[in-house]
Amino acid sequence: MTQTQKWNATDLPDLSGRTAVVTGANSGIGLTAAQALAGAGAHVVLAVRDPERGRAAAATVSGSTEVRRLDLADLASVREFAAGWAGPLHVLINNAGVMMIPRQRTKDGFEMQFGTNHLGHFALTNLLLPYVTDRVVTVSSSAHRWGDEAIHFDDLNSDTAYDPRGAYGQSKLANLLFTLELQRRLTESGSRVRALAAHPGYSATNLQSHAASRVARLAMRFSNRYVAQSDRAGALPTLYAATQDLPGASYVGPDGLGEWRGGPTLVSRSRAASDPTTARRLWTVSEELTGVLCPLEMQVA
Ligand SMILES: NC(=O)c1ccc[n+]([C@@H]2O[C@H](COP(=O)([O-])OP(=O)(O)OC[C@H]3O[C@@H](n4cnc5c(N)ncnc54)[C@H](OP(=O)(O)O)[C@@H]3O)[C@@H](O)[C@H]2O)c1
Repeated sequence: MTQTQKWNATDLPDLSGRTAVVTGANSGIGLTAAQALAGAGAHVVLAVRDPERGRAAAATVSGSTEVRRLDLADLASVREFAAGWAGPLHVLINNAGVMMIPRQRTKDGFEMQFGTNHLGHFALTNLLLPYVTDRVVTVSSSAHRWGDEAIHFDDLNSDTAYDPRGAYGQSKLANLLFTLELQRRLTESGSRVRALAAHPGYSATNLQSHAASRVARLAMRFSNRYVAQSDRAGALPTLYAATQDLPGASYVGPDGLGEWRGGPTLVSRSRAASDPTTARRLWTVSEELTGVLCPLEMQVA
């Protein structure tokens, strides 16, 4: 494929017979990804916190879909979703997210961005892993480079001080460290399942409308209009990671300037996001916080 013929959703392989779960599939990148996957023949489960809005979203998808309730900010809901699963799950797409929101807590008392974006998906993945046959794709962000690029193990839930932007950056750094450690565990256990990550660049979605700061909301409304690419373009790295033959732990993003927009390609991550020691530590802490253990580890032990 040449530079002028960039990979597109029309290049998706035939996904007939495959099942995908997409979290946060009722809007933005999740919905666009669900539409593309179902359009290519996959059975897509829209995992959403509001089933009514999920059904409205599913009505815009042509192909085989199903709506199931999943609130990533409530571990009981995550467990319930996983307990209701049966049969092979070819692709799990950890897409849902919240960004720069006012200080809030999940049902289990975690800071909302870390709790939803990382811990909820951590628990979901490990509970569903026995069913996953192909891959897990987790949606991160260039924001993983925000702040001082270190996981604040001494204040994971921002108990000391809450910075909406910093907490988002931490959660997206955690998404990449999670992918790194998951792939290490998959490899070590001899599994053929792959863990990959993707980021959409900058795409106009609902994500930017919930920021705590009014100034940030206004700035993002402006940039959504004049700078951002569409949610359809933003979903391409996720779709590429979900379907192309890439090495485990790959990170896919747009190929344009600053990775803001463009066609999907392999991109680099920060040094902090590549640190296996931090990734292992975060995994152990996430197990302790969620009470969900890695099924692979249990097999190996
Ligand atoms: N847009 C960008 O420029 C950009 C850039 C970098 C990374 N990302 C990442 O891309 C992913 C998708 O975001 P988006 O841009 O498509 O934003 P979006 O349109 O706001 O979609 C986010 C989705 O996550 C869902 N969600 C939020 N909290 C949830 C919870 N507790 N349980 C279940 N679902 C929940 C939302 O559901 P509700 O509709 O019910 O709120 C929504 O469906 C996120 O992980 C985000 O961090 C986006």
